[in-house]
Amino acid sequence: MNKEKNIVLIGFMGCGKTTFGKRISKRLGMEFVDTDRYIELKEKMSISDIFASKGEGYFRNLEKNLCKELSNSSGKVIATGGGIIKSPDNMRELSKNGVILYLRAVPEHIYRNVANDKSRPLLEGHDKMRRISELMRERTPLYEKYADLTVSVSGDTVKNVTEKILYALEGRKMKKICVIHGPNLNFTGIREKAIYGTGTLDDINKYIIDEGKKLGFEVEIFQSNFEGAIIDRLQKCYFDKVDGVVINPGAYTHYSYAIRDAIASIQIPTIEVHLSNIHQRDEFRHKSVTAPVCVGQMCGFGPDGYILAMTALKMRFK
Ligand code: DQA
Repeated sequence: MNKEKNIVLIGFMGCGKTTFGKRISKRLGMEFVDTDRYIELKEKMSISDIFASKGEGYFRNLEKNLCKELSNSSGKVIATGGGIIKSPDNMRELSKNGVILYLRAVPEHIYRNVANDKSRPLLEGHDKMRRISELMRERTPLYEKYADLTVSVSGDTVKNVTEKILYALEGRKMKKICVIHGPNLNFTGIREKAIYGTGTLDDINKYIIDEGKKLGFEVEIFQSNFEGAIIDRLQKCYFDKVDGVVINPGAYTHYSYAIRDAIASIQIPTIEVHLSNIHQRDEFRHKSVTAPVCVGQMCGFGPDGYILAMTALKMRFK
């Protein structure tokens, strides 16, 4: 787990974001911030009083400013207010340097935790169980959408759930991706510019590394004009326990059973990329002998194809 990243806890009111946040911050030696408490201290007023005297809009605005501030921080465990996910801007800010961890709870569990709590303005004056179920129906898809990790908190002890959270965070090491370019791709920017574009392979690689970082990947890049060297590199991916491979096998795509066998052997999700749309070109390029052992193929999108392939890997890892 990268200590510099914030850990952002999201989940329904009363699911235990503060309780678990404090525990994991202690265990990981990170600073704990509770966005609701932070706002209360700053405003010198309870959340219920802010809602009652200044309205929900005023509160959401304070929350928004705080998310912006937190996006520039690091190494914090942040317990958020239950409604924070209603703002895509807030979530964008928080995920800039944060791992979003969703604490999932069932409505009965929430009811037990908040039934006697007067500091929950959204529940006041309602049949609480009904209101919890309604709000949960509305918010669950959002929690799920933004979560990098989900831990179920209902039906287990605080101690066990804390361990589950730490275990989930530990498993979230940066994924390693290897991008392999086959023969003649080092000539990109020189060869057949109308087909392959004017950017050089260095330009493309810089783009891959920058976008890979944004996706949370550590990216290694390799290029060779030799079939055996590409096979050796694929096998190295196996020994290095690489999480995903993106490969443009160049012309080997159309006839290298040896590269196909290597891809099949390493058992690592592999995505094939071609700068050009091979299906619009010479007949011999229509067939890929390597694609059948890959998860999928991306072709015709130029350098964006590599980014699309990494995005597809990211979706598989979720
Ligand atoms: C290519 C397509 C292949 O047919 C060709 O041999 C290449 C490049 C592409 O990226 O479009 O070398 O893989």
